[in-house]
Amino acid sequence: MPAPATEPAVPVKAAEDGSVVSLDRSTSIFRRLPADAASGLRTTARHELARVYRSNDLIVLGLGAMIGAGIFSIAGRQAATTAGPGVILSFLIAGITMLLSALCYGELSSTLPVSGSAYSYTYVIFGEVWAWIIGWALILEMQVAIAVVSRVWSIYFAQTLTDLGVSFPDSVAWMIGKPEGFDLPTLVIIGLLTLIVAGGARVGMRALYILVGAKLLAIGAVIVVGALNFDQANIDGKIPAPLGPAPEQVDLLHSTVIGAFFGEAQTFGWFGIFAAAPAIAFAYIGWDIVATAAEETSDAPRTIPTGVIRSLVLATVLYIGVAVVMVGMVPYDQIDPGSPLGAAFRHVGADIMPHIINIGAFLGLTSVILVLIVGLTRVVFSVARDGLLPRGLASINRRYRSPSRLTMIIGGTAIVLAETVPVLTLEQLTVMGTVFAFTFVAAGVIVMRRTMPDLPRGFRVPLSPAVPTLAVLASVWLMMNLQVVTWLYFAAWMAFGLIIYLVYGRPHSMLDPRARAYAQGRHRR
Ligand code: ALA
Repeated sequence: MPAPATEPAVPVKAAEDGSVVSLDRSTSIFRRLPADAASGLRTTARHELARVYRSNDLIVLGLGAMIGAGIFSIAGRQAATTAGPGVILSFLIAGITMLLSALCYGELSSTLPVSGSAYSYTYVIFGEVWAWIIGWALILEMQVAIAVVSRVWSIYFAQTLTDLGVSFPDSVAWMIGKPEGFDLPTLVIIGLLTLIVAGGARVGMRALYILVGAKLLAIGAVIVVGALNFDQANIDGKIPAPLGPAPEQVDLLHSTVIGAFFGEAQTFGWFGIFAAAPAIAFAYIGWDIVATAAEETSDAPRTIPTGVIRSLVLATVLYIGVAVVMVGMVPYDQIDPGSPLGAAFRHVGADIMPHIINIGAFLGLTSVILVLIVGLTRVVFSVARDGLLPRGLASINRRYRSPSRLTMIIGGTAIVLAETVPVLTLEQLTVMGTVFAFTFVAAGVIVMRRTMPDLPRGFRVPLSPAVPTLAVLASVWLMMNLQVVTWLYFAAWMAFGLIIYLVYGRPHSMLDPRARAYAQGRHRR
């Protein structure tokens, strides 16, 4: 029997600066980055990240990205309008989908511990144009998420100030805590966190430990006090909740893709439980950022998979705890979609809890924005280092040992987006970009086992190819439950991205020998 295909041989040469580089001289848009070149071999001093994360930092990074708007606000809205007490199952469905994908991330990140995560894995496994598409999807995911979460942060910040008895004159109040239009706190929080990240990852980590600790305390209080006020009668016989017509007329654009197939929109019942899952998936977004920290982590092949999986399992347990107590405190048809958790506690007379939740949410959302800025910086850094975006974006500031210039550009873009676009209607786009990348990572595990069986793997997905196949199917199912309009926006973003790739990325790719020779010449100067 012929031996299975392995990584095709690629020319290898020693550059004058001493580094070893592998060159795939093909000009095809499907040219692949050799696995050996995906890691440090292609870096030079100007493009190398400092190793700053230890094992526990990764769990904090994951929790920092996850516990935010999804649990503090979207979960309650979905319980009230779509799933009823079945929202507990929506959390489970979204959580299992995430866990299947996380196992796949675990294997690829342990094989290719590089900062671009899904983008870099795709570059090695499927080729350049697919990698660009995934990188472009991740940029959409995180850039939109920073803007969305910052606006929600401002709303909670304003609420916290009101709780503390602070009031503003009308001349200022119009730009504080508003979901749309110019908003001052949104501008300030993105600006401040951008400066912190640009100043080096360690400064960010210290702040992150404090913020994550604060939100875990708030979530812990929600679960404990909620459990004390839990009433089984609010759940009994209501999972799934009785089917009902959609609360308002849903046009084709705002129907889910599945809903568009089945015609009339329904809410609650099993349909509602599945329909709520992708919205709930927003709460989980961010664990994949742990994988983008691979180049900054000691012993990454071992610590990244455990960091990803542990933070995700912890978040899933906390989320289900919060969902159970929320729908156990108040009948689902009386949940206030505008302020679900706070109103549920008021319903049972625990009046101090809404204040604790406001403070926990505003601190928690701060950490989400912080980690999203870090994650997006690392993805764009990788794409730029490979030449698909201007290489200058991947330069490291010598003083802060961080891609400071790129961080400032990302922060600036987030401010413009958050201040000029009604981003709170775009949260589904974030889920789309993320889950789209997950399908490539899961498929990548199957393909890489076949094409590069000998690469050392610090972690292996159990029961492959069954688990990666399930991960692909679950991710596709989540995407089918997103709105038609989300698919259209996503397609437009991708078409725009492909034009950029053909005009700029392809000729400037570091896999193009001329572009590479030019870059090395500049580096020596
Ligand atoms: N998972 C993050 C949140 O829920 C994006 O805010």
